[in-house]
Amino acid sequence: MVASPSPPTSDLKLENSSGGLSLGEKVRGDFPILNQEAYPGKPLVYLDSAATSQKPASVIATLDQYYTEYNSNVHRGAHSLSIRSTEAYEAARDKVRTFINAEDRKEIVFTRGATEAINLVAYSWGDANINAGDEIVLTVMEHHSNMVPWQLLAARRGATLKFARLNADMSLDMDHYLSLLGPRTKLVACVHASNALGCINPVRAMADAAHAVGARILVDACQSVPTMRVDVQQLGVDWLVASGHKMCGPTGIGFLYGRLELLRSMAPWQGGGEMIDEVFFDHSTFAEPPSRFEAGTPAIAQAIGLGAAVDYLSAIGMDAIEAYEHELAVYLWDRVAALPAELTLYGPPPNAAGDNRNPLLAFNARAAHAHDLSFFIDQEGVAVRAGHHCTQALHRSLGAAGSIRASCYLYNTRADVDAFVVALEASLAFLGGEGGAGGGDFGLLL
Ligand SMILES: Cc1ncc(COP(=O)(O)O)c(C=O)c1O
Repeated sequence: MVASPSPPTSDLKLENSSGGLSLGEKVRGDFPILNQEAYPGKPLVYLDSAATSQKPASVIATLDQYYTEYNSNVHRGAHSLSIRSTEAYEAARDKVRTFINAEDRKEIVFTRGATEAINLVAYSWGDANINAGDEIVLTVMEHHSNMVPWQLLAARRGATLKFARLNADMSLDMDHYLSLLGPRTKLVACVHASNALGCINPVRAMADAAHAVGARILVDACQSVPTMRVDVQQLGVDWLVASGHKMCGPTGIGFLYGRLELLRSMAPWQGGGEMIDEVFFDHSTFAEPPSRFEAGTPAIAQAIGLGAAVDYLSAIGMDAIEAYEHELAVYLWDRVAALPAELTLYGPPPNAAGDNRNPLLAFNARAAHAHDLSFFIDQEGVAVRAGHHCTQALHRSLGAAGSIRASCYLYNTRADVDAFVVALEASLAFLGGEGGAGGGDFGLLL
């Protein structure tokens, strides 16, 4: 086993102290990038973690250690470096398995990210199992990564896409979802926590209903695996995908979880080294999962870095992270909703328990365009995002070209949200007022 740099730094020693520090305050020092000014006199406030999270020092040190001490290819060499990198790479698979409670380590396939994982299923399983007249059920809040691959599959195979719509409060309309399921439904693909609406969908109930009509279900857990305890056996899903870079890990790595019997039934997607059993001039036989789906040299450092990220999150505890994320979700919503400006907030309001939302909020202001707002907010050192957040179809259905989105993670604090609200108010005052730029995005068409 490779000894990786120890996960969290001394900040965690403060845990359970009676000092009343929030999780964000405790772990902030673990993230070196946060300790800087965005502009002179303007400390950086990073509120774009739904796009990509920052990395703790332990993950950065793990990458450094890999390249300085044992960089080498995996599964190929008998030499000491290769043995070490192979062990670390496969240990990362074990860590991910434990993190999402998969039954078997062979159920974890490393991919470049969630997008690649979805495409893998669409091409491998989809091309073999989706036929003319079949139906694929999605929700209107899907990220492009969980929509376009199914559009391409439907076009290749002559299938139809159906979209579960929203309730008036912009949560998923489960009755509508259930009404779409039937004997023609072969697949459900849905997001667990929406990167635009913030809502957390009832995946277990969705999976049970999909299975009741004989359909498979793939869950896009990009925004939930980083923020809450995700247990694939409890969720009862067939496939689940996530990206490492949103959960304190490096870019270029993600994973596909698939039930082993399903993965075993799936043909390779990409051919090359690593994924074969035997190769002859006229044909080849293929390795068992997960190798069957990991053609070529994998993202070794990134996978090991993801393992370090899992160590980091696990040392803090996903229950503690989840509770804190919900607290921030409520605080963010309440602070923005309380502003006197005319705003449209997207997604359902927090419930009494505060556990129906991720700590992100997308919205529009009547007085100013989202891009202008984000520009002015950035001048105050606060990094937020403006655009359609890869949910263009959703934004269109909400009557908006885009929105501005603030998104928190475990290293953020209420003070970060306060800084954002101050910058937002100042920007609105500057841009808005009567005859302001005008969002052009106001109004809802549910
Ligand atoms: C909900 C959701 N799904 C899928 C993706 C795609 O992830 P990646 O670009 O890392 O493959 C994202 C990233 O923004 C996301 O937020």
